[in-house]
Amino acid sequence: MCGIVGYVGHRDAVPYLLEGLHALEYRGYDSAGVAVRVDGALRVCRCEGRLSALESRIAAEGLTGSPGIGHTRWATHGEPSERNAHPHLDCNSRLAVVHNGIVENYADLRRRLVADGHHFSSETDTEVIPHLIEERLRRGVAARDAVREAMRELEGSFAVGILLADDSQCIFAARHGSPLVVGLGKEGNFIASDALAISRHVESVIYLEDGQVAEVTPQAVTVIDLEGREVKIEPRPLTVKAEEAEKAGFETFMLKEIHEQPRVLWSMIERHVDENGEINIDFGDLDSEFLRRLERIMVVACGTAFYAGLYGKLFLEHLTEIAVEADLGSEFRYRAPKFDQDTLIIAVSQSGETADTLASVRSAKSRGAPVFSICNVPMSTLARESDAVFYTQAGPEIGVASTKAFTAQLAALALFSLRVAEVRGELTAEDKNQLLTDLRRVPQAIHRVLLAKEHIAEIAEKHHSGPSALYLGRRFNYPVALEGALKNKEISYQHAEGYAAGEMKHGPIALISEYMPVVCICTRTADNLYEKMISNIKEVQARHGRIIAVATEGDRRVAELAEDVIYVPEVREEFSPMVNVVALQLLAYYAAHARGNDIDKPRNLAKSVTVE
Ligand code: G6P
Repeated sequence: MCGIVGYVGHRDAVPYLLEGLHALEYRGYDSAGVAVRVDGALRVCRCEGRLSALESRIAAEGLTGSPGIGHTRWATHGEPSERNAHPHLDCNSRLAVVHNGIVENYADLRRRLVADGHHFSSETDTEVIPHLIEERLRRGVAARDAVREAMRELEGSFAVGILLADDSQCIFAARHGSPLVVGLGKEGNFIASDALAISRHVESVIYLEDGQVAEVTPQAVTVIDLEGREVKIEPRPLTVKAEEAEKAGFETFMLKEIHEQPRVLWSMIERHVDENGEINIDFGDLDSEFLRRLERIMVVACGTAFYAGLYGKLFLEHLTEIAVEADLGSEFRYRAPKFDQDTLIIAVSQSGETADTLASVRSAKSRGAPVFSICNVPMSTLARESDAVFYTQAGPEIGVASTKAFTAQLAALALFSLRVAEVRGELTAEDKNQLLTDLRRVPQAIHRVLLAKEHIAEIAEKHHSGPSALYLGRRFNYPVALEGALKNKEISYQHAEGYAAGEMKHGPIALISEYMPVVCICTRTADNLYEKMISNIKEVQARHGRIIAVATEGDRRVAELAEDVIYVPEVREEFSPMVNVVALQLLAYYAAHARGNDIDKPRNLAKSVTVE
């Protein structure tokens, strides 16, 4: 969603701002803008659309100046337009504000400010912020206190960057509910909504907490709370490396990230399983006694992470006696789930900043339930609010459509389930060792799927033009059918639906015709579920559906029924989702490619949905 960058130092801010905004592009946006200080005044340049349009305008105007703030906006209040793009100004253009999040009480604040004579020029919720600060500056309140007091009036979630015309040496940053970091570098100091945006120029960062305001000058950073008390925060070394956010020769980030999956899974297994087959997971304060008495687990997540959560439910139920539910963050927070301090909440999130997942976690915590999170981004809000964190360490995921983060979540949930089953005495040493041996085969199997990408591209090119596609799977591969369909619609814009294959007769079968590609995940199972899937494929075939099967290498039966087959290496059924989904990622990828879409930045989507 929206992105914030700010620079204060002795150099021109504009190149730093543009570089940072480019690094944040992946989050999704529909307009952008910058404000810089020039000769004691503020100059603002904003426009609708891509950053390239903003860059042309900046070049045409010859805009330079320092300090400065910049923003990419993903529209919530008011359409994407130049007028609604950030930064927003006060009445006299003496201060500029960029904002991520939503000011929930903006309508009341705006009414009051308009009645007091303030002039508004956009439809955004953000615009109340510069006016709230302005009214205090006019009364002679010092800038730091004006910012702090204005923040106290806001309800909702926000991360804010502020630039003042009267102060040549300072920018402000404030956080409540949306991430914001201050970066310390040799060429100056920075603020950003994601450390990735400034990673080239800073050595250490300060992660602001909710209710904190930072005054950032080229020499120093002062952090205060909303009461005005100074807070001491030790900067931490920055762990994210700039080169991790580069394409490394691939045509897109998504393709690069798809190819990183064998390495991500292999290194996760190396980190968490020692040579004696001991699984090491940091459960924080959740001791073995707690894990043994656990009767209930609730998994909460959104989007792709929710499908990983569904897999976690299946695998945990498969190995243990624990009752497991998986729910969408956006639903969980508004229903009345029954749980207590003996229920474990597992939150799954790549970013650790998804608003609905965070709200679910907070509501569960307020009722005493401990939270274990599976998260990719170090120091994210979710990680900081959880009792224990399993970091997937997949590296920055830039492509909006999640790939390596998903397979890493699946592997993390598998390791978690194995360890919990072991602690509870529900898994014999022999079974555990066999499962781990089979899990270790997964990275190599994924590698083999990647080698088939040209064949998968041909299949995608053949089937992408239809209006809709159906994805079918069963048991462990039911979440994969959902994820495969999601990938397809996210990046190729072909409508797609994922279904439990057994449900096909309850509706989707009515859609099947010679125009309908049906992707059937039909890899071998130890029991007769494979046969059931074959029956489903025959039902599709009888209605002239165009079958694309994902099947186990060497399976000739499926080849006789399907129009196209993507063969994948044989792996144990429980771990087959990590392999099968890669075939579906590539299928969606090449469909989007054939349609000429912007794969890394699909329309309307945001990488991290930080507002409800
Ligand atoms: C957005 C992204 C998805 C992601 C979902 C949850 O919708 O586009 O790729 O799965 O948010 O994000 P999270 O960071 O919580 O995993």
